[in-house]
Amino acid sequence: MNLETFSKQLDELRARALAAIAKADDPPELEQVESAFLGRKGELRTLLGAIGQLPGPDRPKVGAMANPIREEVEAAIAVRRARLVEIALDVRLAREKVDVTLPGRALPRGALHPIAETEREIAHIFGQFGFVTYETPEVETDELNFQLLNIPADHPARDLWDTLYVAGTDRRYLLRTHTSPGQMRVMRAHQPPIRSLAPGRCYRYEQVDSSHGFEFFQVEGLMVDEGTTMAHLRGLLDEFAHAMFGVGTGTRFRPGYYPFTEPSVAFDISCTICGGVGCAACRRTGWLTILGAGMVHPIVLRNGGIDPERFQGFAFGMGIDRIAMLRHGIPDIRAFLEADMRFLERF
Ligand code: PHE
Repeated sequence: MNLETFSKQLDELRARALAAIAKADDPPELEQVESAFLGRKGELRTLLGAIGQLPGPDRPKVGAMANPIREEVEAAIAVRRARLVEIALDVRLAREKVDVTLPGRALPRGALHPIAETEREIAHIFGQFGFVTYETPEVETDELNFQLLNIPADHPARDLWDTLYVAGTDRRYLLRTHTSPGQMRVMRAHQPPIRSLAPGRCYRYEQVDSSHGFEFFQVEGLMVDEGTTMAHLRGLLDEFAHAMFGVGTGTRFRPGYYPFTEPSVAFDISCTICGGVGCAACRRTGWLTILGAGMVHPIVLRNGGIDPERFQGFAFGMGIDRIAMLRHGIPDIRAFLEADMRFLERF
């Protein structure tokens, strides 16, 4: 060993170290390179360990040659380390990139059921005349559904409402057959002036066909005030028919019978399909019945806590299903509750 071979070996070590540093692709690899060349048992130390083979005066010279090389290698490692951190960040940024200009994923959007939509439209029209919507129960007592509405037990008028009773309650509880018990609830909670709507689901023990369901929807209207007359009822229902089916729609009252109204009427509109000429939908009559109505019976007012000497009222009960069928040309009432998406998606 002489000074010259040392110098050559140092140069050669420097070249290999710098090449290895440049090739290191990630921090662990770079650390390995560092310890292989500069570590305790690294090449540089091993080489310098052989310094004892040189003549005494040459030894410091070797140290002087080795130091700049060590510094250069250390600096190269630091630069490479910083670069690797940068590269890692670039890779991450590229991988986690979000393209905010891509079109979003469309969320499937629901729509109101045609019954709910029709109910809202009805409430909107009567709302313009000051009618307020109330929610009333679907499970009722026989008392509210019948007796207080002037239909005593065993009264033949009960045949108008084939009733589903709640088992185990000795026929005290039932599924309401109409929204009329809502009249009683509103009267008992409020003194006149009253203008209320009570929409909701009703139930009847019914043979189901295209125009009868055992579940269906009604909306009850009630107005009670001083001097309320049949003319107010007629005027209001005309306005409703015109708002819902168009200003050209014809209307008429026919005599009817309900125990809780006196007098009672059926309210017809001119057939929305044939315009009144007569077709299959209106059974060639030119008219369609959309609700029952009448002046609230004095007994019913009294049962509701209202003095019939001072106040008069009218009430009406409208089938929401029927209105929705006419508005949308739906031929079968069963479609509403079948939950068939092909039907529901049309609205
Ligand atoms: N409740 C009656 C029915 O279901 C309709 C009605 C309501 C009639 C209010 C008159 C007054 O058939």
